[in-house]
Amino acid sequence: MTPHNEAKPGDYAEAILLPGDPLRAKWIAETFFEAPRQVNGVRGCFGYTGTWKGKPVSVQATGMGQPTLAIYVHELIHSYGMKVAIRVGTCGGLAEKVKVRDLVIAQGASTDSGIVREAFGPYGFAPLADFGLLRDAVARAEAAGLPVHVGNMVSSDIFYHADGLKAYAALIAHGALAVEMECAVLYLLAARFGIRALTICAMTDSLVTHEELSAADRQSSLIDMATLALDVAVGA
Ligand code: HPA
Repeated sequence: MTPHNEAKPGDYAEAILLPGDPLRAKWIAETFFEAPRQVNGVRGCFGYTGTWKGKPVSVQATGMGQPTLAIYVHELIHSYGMKVAIRVGTCGGLAEKVKVRDLVIAQGASTDSGIVREAFGPYGFAPLADFGLLRDAVARAEAAGLPVHVGNMVSSDIFYHADGLKAYAALIAHGALAVEMECAVLYLLAARFGIRALTICAMTDSLVTHEELSAADRQSSLIDMATLALDVAVGA
């Protein structure tokens, strides 16, 4: 038990998918897991454990934003033995070449988060994906013919910027692909505590072209993302 988690030691698998949305955690467990059981419901931030292709796997929602993700990830590592963490979520496109429905796999993540910026003195830390997970995810996505981009994610603490897209101008000029709100701190904590982490996001709304995903396309894109993440998580 932790302040935010009622699961018992051993209730989580070593490999855990981390969506922001609690209802997406429920959907992943109920749609994909064999024999899913709920292990956490504190604050409605659901966690489930089951198997995927016969191998143990869990899913735990992290809420929106890096401070809440940091709480769940810290506790999953220290109290529940998480070793492989794969964030699955949606992102907003920052590059024209990233179309709605495309998957963005975050090789690294740039951020305005104080959690990352203040930990390294004068140095700008580069939060990175685990290379083995990254390589595996990209190979599987390409083999499956999924539209995939690999590169720099922006993990922003601000969804509604006062100056809109201008806030990301320098990042876009340096090749940033998309924006979400959790990846950089996940990669920071993975580096700090020696676990493996990856982020796979479906692009649902472009901040550049203003394209948005229809409800039906959103669902099939989320199925591709969840299936890929589960295969990578358990090495199936
Ligand atoms: N900003 C931040 N996170 C997001 C966005 C966005 O525009 N779209 C989906 N996740």
